[in-house]
Amino acid sequence: MAHSVPTMAPALDVNALKQFVDPLPIPEIAQHQGYRPSPADPKLNVQFYRIQAQPIACKVHRDLPPTKFWSFGASTPGPTFETRSGEPLLVEWVNALPGEHFLPVDHTLHGAEADKPAVRTVVHLHGAKTRPESDGYPEDWIVPGKSSLYYYPNQQDAAMLWYHDHALGINRLNVYAGLLGAFLIRDGVEDALNLPGGKYELPLILYDRLLTHEGQLLYPVSPDHQSPWVPEIFGNAILVNGKLFPYLEVEPRKYRLRVLNGSNARFYNLSFVDSTSTNEVAFHQIGTDQGFLPAPVPLKNLEIAPGERADLVIDFSDHRGAQLALKNDAVVVMQFRVSPKKVTDTSSLPAALRPVPKIPESQAVQTRLLTLNEYVNKAGNPVLLLLNASHWKMPITEKPVLGSTEVWSLINPTNDSHPIHLHLVRFQILDRQPYVPWLFQTKQELHFIGPPEPPDPNEAGWKDTVQAHSKMVTRIIVPFEGFTGRYVWHCHILEHEDNEMMRPYEVISPG
Ligand code: C2O
Ligand code: CU
Ligand code: CU
Repeated sequence: MAHSVPTMAPALDVNALKQFVDPLPIPEIAQHQGYRPSPADPKLNVQFYRIQAQPIACKVHRDLPPTKFWSFGASTPGPTFETRSGEPLLVEWVNALPGEHFLPVDHTLHGAEADKPAVRTVVHLHGAKTRPESDGYPEDWIVPGKSSLYYYPNQQDAAMLWYHDHALGINRLNVYAGLLGAFLIRDGVEDALNLPGGKYELPLILYDRLLTHEGQLLYPVSPDHQSPWVPEIFGNAILVNGKLFPYLEVEPRKYRLRVLNGSNARFYNLSFVDSTSTNEVAFHQIGTDQGFLPAPVPLKNLEIAPGERADLVIDFSDHRGAQLALKNDAVVVMQFRVSPKKVTDTSSLPAALRPVPKIPESQAVQTRLLTLNEYVNKAGNPVLLLLNASHWKMPITEKPVLGSTEVWSLINPTNDSHPIHLHLVRFQILDRQPYVPWLFQTKQELHFIGPPEPPDPNEAGWKDTVQAHSKMVTRIIVPFEGFTGRYVWHCHILEHEDNEMMRPYEVISPG
């Protein structure tokens, strides 16, 4: 991504640190605190959780002092929810943060003006089908000392969702501070697949950070003191479940890895490399953002954008006694140490996972042309990003009817790929097609210069976040199911989202 480098205090050179001295941490499982009557049906009791956003300090590496974070609970990432499809739950999200922010708030951004409280949180469960009042609308933030009670019906397929802060104008800072965690939904389809489970199924939550020489979080700022916002951040410290260069001892058998890109802006190109042969090890992707693919997709690299999830199965049985590095391009992220002794593996990697019927394009009642816009100053630096040239505060223009299906054509004239996420819904990618941006900008003419490209096999399932590539029109087909009301759609590069690359949309009732 060709943006100017922001100014900042010198960051710690993480390559000076010793690699693979810390075991990979696995976030604890969230524990419910009894039962409460369901808001949907007071005769029904549902699990009640209380999760507190609070300041913590924890070590990202053996040789660094503890780093200050904000976290949902005692460590970051926060606890992983283990839930069943069809079993609703209530979560009281508590803001127990201090009154001042420790990262650079930009008061020129929408929602973060100087008259707003510096510390605000609101939690969104990314990928969940929930009513608007529990969806974490960016303006539904609460201040320290307050809490919100959110209801998750969990009426959806098995998938890895994730929860994170969504407060208007400071979302990038709150997530960077550590306010994120995983949320797993299980179902009978998954049970029947006999995939690797228990200790053979692990979340790999990836995010990059910059650290000071004292091991504290460093969030870069622009040279303009009035407006410290920067267009994108890339840290040299890539953390996995909160650790830098961790290692994991594994058995020579199949593992299921639930990968989440929780980075603010970084796209990953992941591979597993055997350190003796330096060969890239083949693996399978079995699921995407919204659950299982129709069949496992063999891969050697995984491209994953902010907000996206990938469900992987990797078989270490041919690598007894070896060490495998998880790499992002050429950069080492973590190590898998495969034990030498043979084991029996009774888990499976079924050839068929579940049907994902393609939604026929003819089902769409409406096609919306939606542009992704980036505005630069005289020096060529981005100063604002919009969807469809519209600010957050402008009237709602996207009003799909509940139960209807629409095609959204994401027209991207910028030089960046933008991961576009819609709340509430799941969708399928139809295609991507290269086009001539200036003809669309000047004459509203969509002039294509190549054939439409179908989604990659590992994207050909249910998605909630799509990579809208540069100079392409990316088309998604979206059934608007669930609830009526006001939701949002946005770019999941959090710096973009915070600088207006987010819009409300409203699902309206039919008739
Ligand atoms: Cu993961 Cu609206 O976000
Ligand atoms: Cu979401
Ligand atoms: Cu973007």
